Amino acid sequence: MHKRLLIPGPTEVSADILLEQAHFLIGHRTGEFSELYTGIIEKLISYFELPNSYKATVTTSSGTLWFDIVGRSIVKKKALVCSNGAFSERFGKTIQDCGKEVDFLKVEWGKAIKSDAIAEKLSSGEFDTITICHNETSTGVRNPIYEIGRMVRQEYPDVMLAIDSISGMVGDKTLPSEIDCDIIFASTQKCFALPPGLAVGFVSDKALERARDVPNRGLYTNLVRILDYYERKHQTPFTPNIPLLYTLDKRMDLLLEETHEGVYQRHKAMAEYTQKWAKKHFRLFAEPGYESVTVTCVENTLAKNVKELNKELAERQFMISNGYGKLAEKTFRIGHMGEWDLAGIKEALWHIDEIWGLTK
Ligand SMILES: Cc1ncc(COP(=O)(O)O)c(C=O)c1O
Repeated sequence: MHKRLLIPGPTEVSADILLEQAHFLIGHRTGEFSELYTGIIEKLISYFELPNSYKATVTTSSGTLWFDIVGRSIVKKKALVCSNGAFSERFGKTIQDCGKEVDFLKVEWGKAIKSDAIAEKLSSGEFDTITICHNETSTGVRNPIYEIGRMVRQEYPDVMLAIDSISGMVGDKTLPSEIDCDIIFASTQKCFALPPGLAVGFVSDKALERARDVPNRGLYTNLVRILDYYERKHQTPFTPNIPLLYTLDKRMDLLLEETHEGVYQRHKAMAEYTQKWAKKHFRLFAEPGYESVTVTCVENTLAKNVKELNKELAERQFMISNGYGKLAEKTFRIGHMGEWDLAGIKEALWHIDEIWGLTK
């Protein structure tokens, strides 16, 4: 039985979009492919309001490839890794695995990372890159990336700011040039509401220049090769997942129709409703003022059995997510991203109320 996914990725994908995968295949070295791919890039540029100083690209991979791209192609010597959850921690460890030095700015899970703390660390002058997670999916925390971007640009213009917005982009307002970041990326199975298998990345010209200067960039992780190939051929350097690109093309049409602001407002309405529900019965795990607009992480103060809840929800064709890793059963997470709307969220929460006997 189909369960409607209220987990923070993969999220629900409509049949219309899924069917876009059923196109007959085309060769990836043909004009037809270049037309499809260029169309997608232009739609991304338009939706994310990218100025000429940024490049857009799509990789056939999940979003994690971009941890390696940053580690191999962007970090020269040493990165400051802002860590306040499982994914931001993994970003840092990946950079270490790429053979670069890392210093962690660790903040307790559930708390946000503020620009003051980053500025203090950067004042040592030893970092060439900063990494941060826009939307920490493990804790439901939204880091203040616009504020951080402003500070980094003004005070440390040569330090590259690389942002994991894997579960934030599209649902949350994500305008790379307003954030003033150098790299920002997302996976398609989150707020793009597509099957997993593609990642979207935006790269500033400054970051591309940096990459040209970094040795041992690898092959699949070589950002210069990825971006230059598009400039020269309007194609990807290796065989891409063509069926998924058809779904992305269709999704971009729908997003452009709804507009960046419209999509954000829809997510904000879902987040506010879910947060209000959570505060009425439980407690939010995220620090006040820094709650994610795409996933709500609820502190399970009533010690309800989340695993059992999901069994009952499955009968009603819904699925939510337990807490991440060490936070399982201590927290649970409701993903409100992608194709979901307020009516759908209200329906799902009504079912949870009924199953758990929560008073109105
Ligand atoms: C914030 C964040 N970063 C990284 C990842 C890993 O992404 P992927 O599984 O697409 O590689 C996830 C997945 O949930 C995530 O939420």
